Amino acid sequence: MVHQHLGQDFRRLWSFHRDPLKTLSQIARAQGPLASFHMGPWAFVLVSGGAQVHTLLNTHGKHLIKGPGMDANNPLIGRGPLVAEGDLWKMERLAIQPAFDHGRFADYGTWITQATRDYCHQVIRTKATTSDHDMLVLTMRVVLGTLFQGDASVSALQEMAQAVQTVMTYFYQRSRSVLRWPYTWRVPGTLPYHRAADRLQPWMAEFLQGPRKSLVAERLHQALPNDPDAVLQTALTLIMAGHETTGHALFWTLLLLAANPAVQARLQQEVDDQLRGQCPQISSLDRLPYLKAVILESLRLFPPVWLLSRSNPHPLTLEGETFAPRTFFLVSPYVTHHLSSEFPNPDDFDPERWLQGDQEAYALAFLPFGKGPRSCIGRDFALLEMQLVIASFVQALTLHPISGTSWRPVPRLSLLPPPGMRLTVSPRST
Ligand code: HEM
Repeated sequence: MVHQHLGQDFRRLWSFHRDPLKTLSQIARAQGPLASFHMGPWAFVLVSGGAQVHTLLNTHGKHLIKGPGMDANNPLIGRGPLVAEGDLWKMERLAIQPAFDHGRFADYGTWITQATRDYCHQVIRTKATTSDHDMLVLTMRVVLGTLFQGDASVSALQEMAQAVQTVMTYFYQRSRSVLRWPYTWRVPGTLPYHRAADRLQPWMAEFLQGPRKSLVAERLHQALPNDPDAVLQTALTLIMAGHETTGHALFWTLLLLAANPAVQARLQQEVDDQLRGQCPQISSLDRLPYLKAVILESLRLFPPVWLLSRSNPHPLTLEGETFAPRTFFLVSPYVTHHLSSEFPNPDDFDPERWLQGDQEAYALAFLPFGKGPRSCIGRDFALLEMQLVIASFVQALTLHPISGTSWRPVPRLSLLPPPGMRLTVSPRST
């Protein structure tokens, strides 16, 4: 009997390694909202469904810590706000919060629209295609310009976006590996990571110390005057978490629009009717409800952060069941977003559901930005950016349908679009 279970647990581990989205979805469907299971020797509880996720992350959120995958020794982001716990996390979150106040969004909006228009002109002049990497470069420029008052050449932005992808790939491989060298060891296989980290750290430090000090830089230096590592790692977290997620989310949205010409045409119509050729601005967004619906639906189908983890220092009772300290909870936005009990016809791209459907139920089960005290500080910033970029994009360009390409998302630390995919675009005559 024990052997039978062991075999099953290792088969599950293997299946997770091959296709984590499918494996977790199957577990949630088979076992319901609180699914206890083993993968190899490790025990997990997968929490899915709007109500149960809300209870875990909101109701009990302040009694939880991040799961063991979040490595405090990580020399780039381990002491930044995504991973840090306790007082350090509180200080960092408080220090960067004013940069996300809505009062700053009009200025950010101008920068975002300008950067997108530059990009669209460049596409029209040169290659007539767009890619995930292009979106990562655009969002890198946005986060640098808005939060750090910096700019850089296209080639520098491309290099840094590539460096972020390299370190993220390394962190992902490391998180799945049993044998983990100390971060400082430069052994074969880790060299691309070291080269990328050696470029990113001084580059970021320059923006923190440069003559045009941003609000983020000033507040971090004030809050953590004796902790330069935490200052640098908070800035790196903002650059990495801020540009990577939004870049992939934008490319997923472009892919969905290219594959659904009727949705794209309706969106272009809304943008044309409401903006009449003017640049999209923050004040125009209320008049573009279909745009918002397209973006929410894209984040539902392909949430860039597809897996969250938590642990409980103390016993925790959920739905009448008590979990021992150090239980490893998993929450997958992807799995919950694809439950038919939460979203009818969950695999369809149907922006209309955000205009007609059961908004309250959807809000509970919709968690691309997480929930509770550790939810994304950049949520409204990212939504603003996505709306302005997509509005500017469809105003200037038409995306062409794609055929014969696999749509399978690639789950790494983020949910990546199929690698190497390029979309053909053409300028609009309006
Ligand atoms: C579509 C874009 C984005 C998505 C899908 C996203 C998603 C998330 C999620 C799910 C979390 C919570 C992680 C957890 O619970 O363990 C998170 C945290 C975080 N995000 Fe985002 N994010 C996005 C954009 C941004 C932007 C634009 C920024 C900043 C410029 C940002 C900065 C952060 C930070 C600093 C945290 C840590 C918050 C904390 O623990 O206090 N994110 N993000």
